[in-house]
Amino acid sequence: MTDAILSQTIIDRFNAALDAAREAGEPEPTAMVLATSDCQGRVTTRTVLLKGLDRHGFVFFTNTGSRKGRQIDECPRAAATFLWKSTYCQVQLVGAVRPVTAEEADAYFATRDRGSQIGAWASLQSRTLDSRDTLEARVAEFEERYSGKDVPRPPHWSGYRLQPDSVEFWHGREFRLHDRTEYRWTDGNWAQRKLYP
Ligand SMILES: Cc1cc2nc3c(=O)[nH]c(=O)nc-3n(C[C@H](O)[C@H](O)[C@H](O)COP(=O)(O)O)c2cc1C
Repeated sequence: MTDAILSQTIIDRFNAALDAAREAGEPEPTAMVLATSDCQGRVTTRTVLLKGLDRHGFVFFTNTGSRKGRQIDECPRAAATFLWKSTYCQVQLVGAVRPVTAEEADAYFATRDRGSQIGAWASLQSRTLDSRDTLEARVAEFEERYSGKDVPRPPHWSGYRLQPDSVEFWHGREFRLHDRTEYRWTDGNWAQRKLYP
């Protein structure tokens, strides 16, 4: 199958739904629940924030040694769901996951506040933490290491791009007769169909 390239229609529709959620006061409108799995099909989910969207997909950043990072290495596919309660809308994505380039990760890391940059060094995300004190000691250690200097991006911190081959827009309607439109990448084109609610 050729790589799915998002159509402008899908991007515009997604951005319109995201803007509507923002305007309606949705807390964390860029939050999506991301499902990944290992090659045995053991599925896990967690929330991550959308940090970019272009024709190649939906970008998020994380610790690549985390549980999700290890699962993506093993099985580079994922699903994600945005739920916007304020506008009664949902968007679901399913597709391939690819690492972003080092340049993209560097560029985004540079925009983070210093505390989050230090946090990215201090956190061994998803590993066992014996106590909060250990975490705080690690934060202090990296603050000292980078005192008076720019904080570089840690090698274990980067981003991924979920490149969906299926995108579904769901809009809640009266009497549970909701609108569902699915776009599916088929033979190099996006096929669109309505689904029963
Ligand atoms: C609103 C919200 C936003 C989050 N955003 C991110 C994010 O962008 N990246 C990230 O690695 N973790 C984020 N987290 C934490 C993850 O949900 C999760 O705890 C962490 O990534 C470890 O997941 P894992 O052990 O499955 O890899 C967020 C959590 C919440 C509640």
